[in-house]
Amino acid sequence: MKGGSLLKPAILNVGIYLFLKFVLPLFTAPLPASLIFLYVALTATGIVIFATLSGQSTEAFFGPITRFLSGEGQAGVMKMARLLVLVLFPLLVGWQTYSSTAPSEVPPAENRTIHPAPPGEFVGLSNPIPNTPENVMAGKGLYAAFCSPCHGGNFDGKGPASKGFNPPPANFSDPTTIAMLQESYLFWRIKKGGVGLSIEGMPWKSAMPRWEVELKDEQIWKIIMGEYDGAHQKPRTWE
Ligand code: HEC
Repeated sequence: MKGGSLLKPAILNVGIYLFLKFVLPLFTAPLPASLIFLYVALTATGIVIFATLSGQSTEAFFGPITRFLSGEGQAGVMKMARLLVLVLFPLLVGWQTYSSTAPSEVPPAENRTIHPAPPGEFVGLSNPIPNTPENVMAGKGLYAAFCSPCHGGNFDGKGPASKGFNPPPANFSDPTTIAMLQESYLFWRIKKGGVGLSIEGMPWKSAMPRWEVELKDEQIWKIIMGEYDGAHQKPRTWE
């Protein structure tokens, strides 16, 4: 190994990185950064082991590095480059340490249970209102008045007042909302709203109002019918 003995390993390492980062994802899923780092570090280790097999190759590999860092007989550009490395390296380490320990403003991931178990008194209730076209229409009318501002006139959760809520108002046409729930569950959620959720449902996050004061039970049951009909979903039943 002579002259370009540092260039080849450098090219090899950069090549490995580029391959893992950009070529491999064309054939399979992208690799996580930590894995890429591991492979590059392993390649570098292999190179060092290979370069230090004999005294001669060790000198060829580390000689230029030692001379660069010690500044022996350097002038001009090389001198500047050495200064730059000696200043930038501690800054880089400092910045890395700072950014990994500084408190972050990004909130930690939360596990909100979207559908916690309803209180016992709501389990198994069935809709007492007969499913007639008139009742469904009446339910849709109430829905339009009370619910559509948030849950949307199309039952898609995109009403004019829906923006800015997190969690967003439920999208009833999505199969993971009312289609997988029983009518009794909806009755509970509509009557008691966000504040009626249990702790694992993070009641403080929900903007869903509790309607027990404004709406009579009978009206809520009609809204439920109108909601399923309008969203083209069916309540979940236990057959
Ligand atoms: C201020 C906006 C707002 C209004 C008005 C509103 N909701 Fe909600 N609603 C929400 C939000 C936000 C959620 C999601 C958070 C949650 O589950 O508590 C939600 C959730 C729900 C859920 C639970 C869905 C699920 O998958 O668990 C039902 C059912 C529901 N709303 C029905 C209604 C009905 C019926 C009305 C009208 C009587 C109504 N909402 C009015 C904001 C609103």
